[in-house]
Amino acid sequence: MTDSKPAKAPDRMASLASLCKRRGFIFPSSEIYGGINACWDYGPLGVALKNNLKRLWWQSMTQWRDDIEGLDAAILMHPKVWEASGHVENFTDPLVDCKTCKGRFREDQLETSRCPNKPSKSPKACGGELMPARMFNLMFKTHMGPVEETGSVCYLRPETAQGIYVNFLNVMAPSRQKIPFGIAQIGKAFRNEISPGNFIFRSREFEQMEMQFFVKPGTDEEWFARWRAARMAWHKALGLNAAKLQFHDQTGKELAHYAKAATDIHFEFPFGWQEVEGIHNRTDFDLKRHMQFSGKDLSVFEEATKERYVPYIIETSVGADRLTLTALVNAYAEEEVKPGDVRTVLKFHPAIAPIQAAVLPLVNRDGMPELAREVVQGLKREFRVFFDDGGAIGRRYRRMDEAGTPFCLTVDGDSLKDRTVTLRERDSMAQSRVPIDALAEALRSRSAFEPPAV
Ligand code: GAP
Repeated sequence: MTDSKPAKAPDRMASLASLCKRRGFIFPSSEIYGGINACWDYGPLGVALKNNLKRLWWQSMTQWRDDIEGLDAAILMHPKVWEASGHVENFTDPLVDCKTCKGRFREDQLETSRCPNKPSKSPKACGGELMPARMFNLMFKTHMGPVEETGSVCYLRPETAQGIYVNFLNVMAPSRQKIPFGIAQIGKAFRNEISPGNFIFRSREFEQMEMQFFVKPGTDEEWFARWRAARMAWHKALGLNAAKLQFHDQTGKELAHYAKAATDIHFEFPFGWQEVEGIHNRTDFDLKRHMQFSGKDLSVFEEATKERYVPYIIETSVGADRLTLTALVNAYAEEEVKPGDVRTVLKFHPAIAPIQAAVLPLVNRDGMPELAREVVQGLKREFRVFFDDGGAIGRRYRRMDEAGTPFCLTVDGDSLKDRTVTLRERDSMAQSRVPIDALAEALRSRSAFEPPAV
């Protein structure tokens, strides 16, 4: 039996960030130059974790359903897209400056911001006066072509959604989809956030996994309710602790300029309940605005009813980096295995673990490494496996616990005689003997990811 307890809240993010650096999950971008604020690089385990999350999302959306198609649109889009979408006018946050410490804060996040002169205190703790708020547009501006002039301005997209809207008919026709259907996309988005932070929670460059579901007006509320439930069930199937997930229905001023209804899925991070995913009823706002600004007709004709209409859109939008952080926080535990012996472990769902199984020869002789290599060969086309023959077996188990590897397969003297290995489970630390020929099935059956159908 282990005594599993979370690290104390203030230390938990620091411990997690330190583990991520140590084990090769995530590093500050351009670290040898002192880093660049709110940009992050993913190391071998980090990119494997994030790719697994993206793959499961992509499969759930485009492979396991018949009514969602995939898309990969360009990051740079015609500047009029952002006028039509309302981002040039509305994608702003209220920025306030402190006259004394020159700190810059979001006016609506003053309570959770920190004074640069007194990092344990809130803004104004330096005795400074805050200037009146100015609205600051979060889009990164750049220039297309060699000349930096007004006519060459373009933006790094602040959301991937618009690439889907402008391609709505391009996708619908060749895929022979009919309303209701969806388009899914994974891609980079950029926001010049005023107060990024909490490790990779709020970054300036990040990835979004967005799905836009086009429905007949009048059916939008029903689809909104279905997607709201489906997305919560998906996060639970990923192994996120149900007690740390909740809906937050947006009201009044919280609603974005395009939304008739919006629900966030919140997770309880060490720094409080925060959004992981947003589900929005965007009505026909986006398509109608693109019709107005492009002059192109984006309505559809419904053969059965002979009706022509502009579809409503239900959007599900989750950050791939935000979800990676959620998976890390959810998995992180410090456990007292026996008095005075604490292990750090990442308890990922096996389907998202960067390494599914480690293969460990008990000792480095007597044919054990050779048999272990054979086990690796037999599994590596289906699972990410890792061979480790360095150090005492207990230390190797602990290294794999920190990497979040759910299964360790130990090749020992008996393996050479009966072709079985010890399968050690990360969370319970229980051990059982499994024939080498049955290993693939043993890993497969323990790694299934099965979100309920919508
Ligand atoms: N298309 C709708 C949209 O972009 P949003 O609520 O602004 O809505 C959706 O963003 C998701 O994108 C968020 O729930 C979060 O997971 C992720 N996200 C937004 N801003 C982010 C940032 N600065 N850093 C990391 N992830 C972010």
